[in-house]
Amino acid sequence: MVLLDGKALSDKIKKQVKLDVEELQQTRQITPGLAVILVGNDPASATYVKMKSKSCSDAGIYSVVHEMPATISQESILKTIDMMNQNPNIDGILVQLPLPSHIDTTVILEAIDPKKDVDGFHPFNVGRVRAGLDGFIPATPYGVMELLKEYDIDVKGKDVCVVGASNIVGKPLATLMLNANATVDICHIFTKDLKAHTSKADIVCVGTGVVGLIKEDMIKDGAIVIDIGINRLSDGKIVGDVDFDKVASKCSYITPVPGGVGPMTIAMLLVNTIKSAKMRA
Ligand code: GUN
Repeated sequence: MVLLDGKALSDKIKKQVKLDVEELQQTRQITPGLAVILVGNDPASATYVKMKSKSCSDAGIYSVVHEMPATISQESILKTIDMMNQNPNIDGILVQLPLPSHIDTTVILEAIDPKKDVDGFHPFNVGRVRAGLDGFIPATPYGVMELLKEYDIDVKGKDVCVVGASNIVGKPLATLMLNANATVDICHIFTKDLKAHTSKADIVCVGTGVVGLIKEDMIKDGAIVIDIGINRLSDGKIVGDVDFDKVASKCSYITPVPGGVGPMTIAMLLVNTIKSAKMRA
């Protein structure tokens, strides 16, 4: 069994991003800029946003965080997005999800200029990526694909089971797998027999937020398991959605949590921000 080391790969990618930033500054006098909008006080969201801005500053990317109270009006968020859309020093705009229930997430995401949509959540980019065209790829599924590539794992012709059908992870990951010529099963909360799907898959990718969802008897020998879950237990320990200790020994490759897909998400957000800044250049 081989551990897919997302920490190591993300460090390598972040080093390259830093070089790209230096080159943009020297040759084009451009410093890439990322604007993050954080609404409310969800502790997990606050932590993610802190990690994103720290990674930006480490890489030399300018970042600004617009913190807004949970009671903020949709109109105020839209105004801030419009300001960032117009701001020539901002290449990427990211609205941290989830948003409070009185805010219409679709309206917010559609207000972001697709050219600055480094999260890849605007329907314009969703559609482009679905059609196999160039567009911003959501960071987490992008990170999964890059991690597999780093270990020379070709998904072409493989049976891939994606567990979880969110717009942020499951659906775009299934799209990327399909575009890479895998045969893709997408399972979700209404799937009748999850085990029937996971146990025949060569690659199982799971991102549901359900601790211990994927058990040893649901995975075939030699399978590749990608755990996208990040769950904090009551003792503070971070675990994924896979019963790692029992599942790992059956796998050919598996991602640890933490240190697997998590660090890749931030690295690919930086990559998307550089891509946007290069378009500005
Ligand atoms: N919430 C959970 N994951 C993400 C992400 O990748 N981007 C944003 N904007 N919000 C998230």
